[in-house]
Amino acid sequence: MKLKNKIAIVTGGASGLGEATVRKLVEMDNKAVIFDLNKERGDTLVEELGEAVLFQEVNVADDVSVQAGITTTMKQLKAVHILVNCAGIGPPVKTLGKQGPHPLDTFKEVIDINLNGTFNVLRLVAEQMAMNEPNQDEERGVIINTASVAAFEGQKGQAAYAASKGGIVGMTLPVARDLAWYGIRVCTIAPGIFHTPLFQGLGEEVVTGLSKQVLFPKRLGKPSEYAEMVSTIVQNSYMNGETIRLDGGIRMQ
Ligand SMILES: NC(=O)c1ccc[n+]([C@@H]2O[C@H](COP(=O)([O-])OP(=O)(O)OC[C@H]3O[C@@H](n4cnc5c(N)ncnc54)[C@H](O)[C@@H]3O)[C@@H](O)[C@H]2O)c1
Repeated sequence: MKLKNKIAIVTGGASGLGEATVRKLVEMDNKAVIFDLNKERGDTLVEELGEAVLFQEVNVADDVSVQAGITTTMKQLKAVHILVNCAGIGPPVKTLGKQGPHPLDTFKEVIDINLNGTFNVLRLVAEQMAMNEPNQDEERGVIINTASVAAFEGQKGQAAYAASKGGIVGMTLPVARDLAWYGIRVCTIAPGIFHTPLFQGLGEEVVTGLSKQVLFPKRLGKPSEYAEMVSTIVQNSYMNGETIRLDGGIRMQ
């Protein structure tokens, strides 16, 4: 699919990897609708990037909230061609720690936002994409989810996070199979360690330590490199049903 004059929804688009994606989409003459809870950052981005960006205060885990966001988007922009699911959280909690067993509510919350939220948005956006006129390659839409290398090599304290991301990897192929009939492709990006607000505040020492684990180049990923992968997936019509690691070759211990 050509990445020009398209309309995209980016969940978690107010920060980090989602924000970089929004910037890339706008730079390439597309429109982006941010679905995020962080209204302040969302509004700041809209102010900076202008009318090519809209912000909707949406909780991805809530079906009513997502449906309302989609209804408003359709009213304003009439179509959606691309969905990039970036919204996510990852509080580190051990299965059994000094404070006792992992609170079940925390586990459920991570699954609800990262995994259920991803599915919730994609199922409702797919319904709209299915109504698009197909392009010359019979495509009606492209959906890109965000997992993590934690889906394969989760660390201590990442039981919930790794389970949620493993779920995203697991559903990528069956969702691609379900949506193939409509001309909608589905891929997942599994990022390694990227320089986003998630990692800001960890301190120079921690960042240096993490960078050493990367094969090459020995640094954290740039959010713009994630956005570049989004652009590649959208533009390469033969990419489908796949999870792509984007991690500088890191294999976490
Ligand atoms: N940064 C990394 O190194 C890294 C590595 C692997 C995977 N990821 C994944 O990439 C995605 C983006 O991460 P990031 O580093 O950009 O994080 P970030 O914290 O910078 O951005 C996440 C955004 O999601 C939003 N959000 C959280 N819960 C939401 C909800 N219920 N509804 C709507 N929006 C919600 C937040 O407000 C925030 O703007 C996440 O899914 C994360 O798990 C990040």
